[in-house]
Amino acid sequence: MRILVTGAAGYVGSMLIEPLLQAGHNVLGYDSLVHGGKSLQDLFIHDNFEFERGDLRETEKVQRLFNDWKPEAVIHLAAIVGAPECDANVPLTEAVNYDASVQLADMAKAAGVKQFVFTSTCSNYGVADISRLATEEDEVNPVSSYADTKVRFEQYLKEQTGGDFAPVTLRLSTVYGVSRRMRFDLLINEFVRDAYVNRELEIYAGNAWRPMVHVVDVARAIVRLLELDASAVAGEIINIGNNDFNVQKMDLAKQVGEVVGETEVTIASETQDPRNYRVSFDKMEKVLGMTAERSPRQGMEEIFQALRGDIFADTYVQEYKNRGCNINILGSFAS
Ligand SMILES: NC(=O)c1ccc[n+]([C@@H]2O[C@H](COP(=O)([O-])OP(=O)(O)OC[C@H]3O[C@@H](n4cnc5c(N)ncnc54)[C@H](O)[C@@H]3O)[C@@H](O)[C@H]2O)c1
Repeated sequence: MRILVTGAAGYVGSMLIEPLLQAGHNVLGYDSLVHGGKSLQDLFIHDNFEFERGDLRETEKVQRLFNDWKPEAVIHLAAIVGAPECDANVPLTEAVNYDASVQLADMAKAAGVKQFVFTSTCSNYGVADISRLATEEDEVNPVSSYADTKVRFEQYLKEQTGGDFAPVTLRLSTVYGVSRRMRFDLLINEFVRDAYVNRELEIYAGNAWRPMVHVVDVARAIVRLLELDASAVAGEIINIGNNDFNVQKMDLAKQVGEVVGETEVTIASETQDPRNYRVSFDKMEKVLGMTAERSPRQGMEEIFQALRGDIFADTYVQEYKNRGCNINILGSFAS
């Protein structure tokens, strides 16, 4: 299949392209390169990979992708990612995560694209009843502009389902693992980095639950989804993770200490983040016939090995985090 991947250079996107190519697909990556393009460097050896730099909000440019390259499927990853980043830039978040996403879906549908895969987030569950696992049928409870735009675009996609257009929303758990575009602002990655570099961890809301998933398992799930009959999953929402990878932050910190070695853990009493949710991944197992395999513990080991190998010169630089970077770079590159 010919697959357009938006956000191709990002933490998830740069780890998805190779599995898509290996599955026999042709991939066109599209990304404004907020964090640069180094993550794509080793992918150009594949004949079936192409890339175009551009912003989702560039209507004519995006339309040209559909007219000229003729994708048969779209995987929509590009977004302003993370609650702090989005809350600091609400109009931009609305413009990219909602308005430009709606435009992309409309163009895809008009161009006859069948499969449209959207990566949403389990953050949509916000503050949930933690006595049980939240399912896709449960009410969502977004507590940030990030989750709010994700929930509304999910709804829009659902309403567009029909005819040949078969969108699917994947609600990802918090992702971890080493990526071509490394992020150290994701919970497990950050914990391992802080424990390794500083021998100390500061935890906010230590009792809060979060579902976790390895970036490689996210890629596996997307590749698997594309193998299914699109009409059988049209309009569906599927949580991506593993029931056993719902973890309390305190427990994660303990495991990180076991992997990295002696680490002082400080519990911070104040937190701006009220999120607390445990999530069910039964539907993923039923529909995709797979579950996430690479455990948080394995992810911690792998990040620890990368840090020990000293492959990141300074893990605290802007390159490795979303918060604080210049995300509104439209116009700073040729269109
Ligand atoms: N990483 C996680 O833990 C996680 C969890 C749940 C959902 N998700 C979702 O997965 C997707 C990918 O997340 P990620 O972790 O790879 O984030 P990321 O920030 O690493 O990647 C996002 C990519 O989108 C690009 N981008 C941003 N604005 C753009 C625009 N206006 N036009 C074109 N490109 C633009 C950036 O350059 C970047 O390469 C996002 O939709 C995110 O909401 C991620």
